Amino acid sequence: MLHASTSVLKYYLALGGCAVVALSTLYVTRPTAQSNVSPIYGVTIPAGYREWKLIAVNQLKTDKVDQLRVQLGNEIAIKAFKEGTIPFPDGTIIAALHWNRVPSADNNKVLADAFPGAQSFVVQSAVNVQFMVKDSKKYAATGGWGFGDFKDGKPGDEALHKTCFGCHEPAKAHDFVFAHYASQP
Ligand code: HEC
Repeated sequence: MLHASTSVLKYYLALGGCAVVALSTLYVTRPTAQSNVSPIYGVTIPAGYREWKLIAVNQLKTDKVDQLRVQLGNEIAIKAFKEGTIPFPDGTIIAALHWNRVPSADNNKVLADAFPGAQSFVVQSAVNVQFMVKDSKKYAATGGWGFGDFKDGKPGDEALHKTCFGCHEPAKAHDFVFAHYASQP
């Protein structure tokens, strides 16, 4: 009798355990899915990145997009770029900010006399921001880099983040970073 009720107790405890797991799945994974952490890598948007220093500027034009892009770096990144340190040290963060590129009628009007046919382009709406975070131990499987892509503060999905490292592999000789420090004008 005692043995039977102990079994029942165990049974209820086991059920209780399951219920706790089920509840925590419900309440823990839901906020995680909507959180500001990139899938796979767990990269978050670093505070103050908009104020970081300039590494380089470029334009990306395909049949679908026309973007102006800047790469900014935290202090560790800027020092490494200036000194040509490869591989980049742990703590390096590179930010890539992307905007849609549009012609500026206002600028063109002003420029027309001095430069007939001038075409000035400016940034319009923001597209996304991407980060590469160096941690040689944590991200050993991906060249020491963690990746994060954010649109309106929200990270892209896992499928998107699976593409990052593979496409950066051609830049292996420069520690998987395409950007080079722009010279001083
Ligand atoms: C199709 C290939 C491709 C994929 C996929 C890709 N990148 Fe890149 N990435 C590039 C190239 C090429 C550049 C340099 C040219 C540019 O910025 O447009 C670059 C530049 C960057 C930079 C600036 C530093 C550098 O290497 O020049 C960051 C940061 C970055 N990518 C992050 C990411 C993240 C995060 C992902 C995944 C969500 C990702 N990239 C996916 C090709 C790729």
